[in-house]
Amino acid sequence: MDKDKVESLVKKLSGKPKKQIKGKRKIVSLVFDASTLDTLQRLGRKKWIHQLKHPISTGKEGNVFLATNESGNIAVKIYKIETSKFKKMHEYIEGDPRFKKTKKTKHDIVNMWVQKEFQNLSLAKKCGERVPTPFAYLNNVLVMEFIGTGDDAAPTLKKCPPQNPEQFFDKTVNFIANILHKVKLVHSDLSEFNILNREEKPVFIDMGQAVLITHPKAIDFLKRDVKNICTYFETLGVKTDQEKTLQKIREYKENKQKNV
Ligand SMILES: Nc1ncnc2c1ncn2[C@@H]1O[C@H](COP(=O)(O)OP(=O)(O)OP(=O)(O)O)[C@@H](O)[C@H]1O
Ligand SMILES: [Mg+2]
Repeated sequence: MDKDKVESLVKKLSGKPKKQIKGKRKIVSLVFDASTLDTLQRLGRKKWIHQLKHPISTGKEGNVFLATNESGNIAVKIYKIETSKFKKMHEYIEGDPRFKKTKKTKHDIVNMWVQKEFQNLSLAKKCGERVPTPFAYLNNVLVMEFIGTGDDAAPTLKKCPPQNPEQFFDKTVNFIANILHKVKLVHSDLSEFNILNREEKPVFIDMGQAVLITHPKAIDFLKRDVKNICTYFETLGVKTDQEKTLQKIREYKENKQKNV
């Protein structure tokens, strides 16, 4: 992507600071800092990103854009360096043997987080799970598969509950068990906000905080994931039991070593 394209996009978006894109949340600022612009340009030169089209989601810690490259639509997640929650990020990075030498600057922590999200998505993909395929990452930017139909992003379960909640619940429990047993990963932020409903099939997203089972808090995170999804699916009329679900996950052995 050339600099003009990014800058005109920035200009266009920053000219509409009050526009509501995601629910009632207002865009505080979509202006990229100089290092993010540089990162986007470098990804552009490597042909990972051709053009940013429009934001799918805007948040305090980052934005997700619908973008394009030669193969069509892609999603680009851009973390904001200044507003990311470093203490929280640190908690999830610290106990992870993949990131032993925890560096100190804000940039380093966010960059590590992006790398971690890329690796976690790759691990989940490796066990055949429905997550966005990660394509590339650089600094605070992650390029991945766009989950949607045409230019329309698939909605979260929060926005669009499934027509068959029992089936979604089972698939979600299978996802937890599958990544736990095959690649020793715990999502650690699983809820109706991080599961997309793509044409009535679940796609699990947002894996920056996912930790390996060796993380000191992995079991707590696993229990929290189970609690969150049981609570959510109960609201849709599914009869759930947290203890039994945890037991089922622990005992899950099917296809354990397949593809890994
Ligand atoms: N690959 C993707 N394809 C389509 N939409 C996506 C994709 N990744 C993320 N989104 C959309 O962007 C939103 C935010 O993404 P994500 O959950 O990964 O980030 P987040 O850090 O939780 O951001 P926030 O705190 O603003 O929700 C999602 O709820 C979803 O609507
Ligand atoms: Mg999220």
